[in-house]
Amino acid sequence: MVSVRVVNLTKRFGDVVAVDRVTFEVKDKEFVVLLGPSGSGKTTTLRMIAGLETPDEGEIYIGKQLVNDLPPKDRDIAMVFQSYALYPHMTVYENLAFPLRIRKYPKEEIDRKIREVAELLRISHLLNRKPKQLSGGEQQRVALGRALVREPKVFLMDEPLSNLDAKLRVYMRAELKKMQKELGITTIYVTHDQAEAMTMADRIAVYNRGRIQQMATPEELYHKPANLFVAGFIGAPGMNFFDAVLKRKNGEVILDAGEFKLTLPLSLIEAAHIEEMPIEVVMGIRPEHIRVHKEKVPQSIETEVYVVEPLGSETIIDFKMGETIYKIKYHGEMRLNTGDKIYIAFDLNKIHLFDKKTGKAII
Ligand SMILES: Nc1ncnc2c1ncn2[C@@H]1O[C@H](COP(=O)(O)OP(=O)(O)OP(=O)(O)O)[C@@H](O)[C@H]1O
Ligand SMILES: [Mg+2]
Repeated sequence: MVSVRVVNLTKRFGDVVAVDRVTFEVKDKEFVVLLGPSGSGKTTTLRMIAGLETPDEGEIYIGKQLVNDLPPKDRDIAMVFQSYALYPHMTVYENLAFPLRIRKYPKEEIDRKIREVAELLRISHLLNRKPKQLSGGEQQRVALGRALVREPKVFLMDEPLSNLDAKLRVYMRAELKKMQKELGITTIYVTHDQAEAMTMADRIAVYNRGRIQQMATPEELYHKPANLFVAGFIGAPGMNFFDAVLKRKNGEVILDAGEFKLTLPLSLIEAAHIEEMPIEVVMGIRPEHIRVHKEKVPQSIETEVYVVEPLGSETIIDFKMGETIYKIKYHGEMRLNTGDKIYIAFDLNKIHLFDKKTGKAII
C-alpha cells in the first residue's frame, strides 16, 4: 500500500488559477476528503493526481515515486468521476468484468469479485441489464463497482454519491467508509457536502479559491478552525458571527459588539496570541453553544424570537440583531413563539475570535 504526496501543485487555465501551490500528504490507508465550494479546485487536483491533467508547477508522488511523467494507466489508480462513463453496449456484469478481463484474471475469480462487489453495492439484481436500463443512481453504483473490483493502490473519487437520493447516499457513505477501511486502500475523495466529509474522512483538506485553508481531522476543523472561511464552512447550521472590538478595561477584557458587551474569562485571553488591544475581531459562536433563558442570567443578552424551527429531536431558534439573523440549536423541544422575549447566554469557553483584518483565528 502507498501514500500520495503533492508538493506546490499549481494549475492555471488562462487567467484562472484553479489550483494554487497546494501541498499535502495522504498517508498509507488514509481516507482524505477534499472539501470546498464549487470551483475551488478539488476536481482539478484529483485529475492531476490521476494523470488526466498536467500540472503547471509542482510534484506528485505515489509512494516514493515521482509520477509527473507517468501516464494514467501506469499509476495504478482507480478514479470514479462525478459523471460516470459506463460502456453502453455491455451489461452491468460485463462492465464490472472489463477491468479484470484486460488484466487477465481467471474467470472464476472475476465472477467471485463481481458478486461480492455487486452485493456490497446492492446491484446484484441488475447484473444482466444494460446501462440505459438503469437509473442515474444505479449507474453510479455500477461505476463505483467497476473501480472497486480492481483493488487499485489508490482510489480517487469525485463526488461519487452525488446522483443518489438522500437515503441511499447515507447508506452508501457508511458502506464506502467501511469498505475503504477493510480494503485498506489509500483514498482521496472529493465533495462539497460537509456532512459527507465529516462522516467519512480521517482528515479533511478544506479548499477555497484553489488553496488549502486547513487540513485536519473533522474534530479539529470543528473545534479549532484556523480561519473565518473554515469556521463558516464547517457545521450546519453555520457558526454565528459578530463584529466586535476586544479591549482592556479595569484589568478585564471586554468584547464590545455594539449591541452587547461581554467580559471574557482571562484564561481564554491568556491562551490567545493577542499583541495589542483594542483590536477589531469577528466573534464566532456555534448554534449549540448559545443557551436560551426565559429570565435574565449573568452576561445574558435580551432579544426576541424571530422564528422557531422544530426538527423533532432538536429545535432551531432564530433571533435577529441589527440586520442579521442568528441561530441557536437547542437539544429537545422548546415551546417558544415568534416575538417571545428571551435572554441568550454564550458559552464563553466555546467562543472563537478571528482577527478581522486577516481572518485568522486568535482563539
Ligand atoms: N478545462 C478547464 N478549462 C478552463 N477552466 C477550467 C477547466 N477546468 C476547471 N476550470 C476552472 O478551474 C476552477 C476549478 O475548477 P474545479 O473543477 O477543479 O472545481 P471544483 O472544486 O471541482 O468544483 P465543483 O464542486 O463545482 O466540482 C474553476 O474556476 C473552473 O471554472
Ligand atoms: Mg468538481
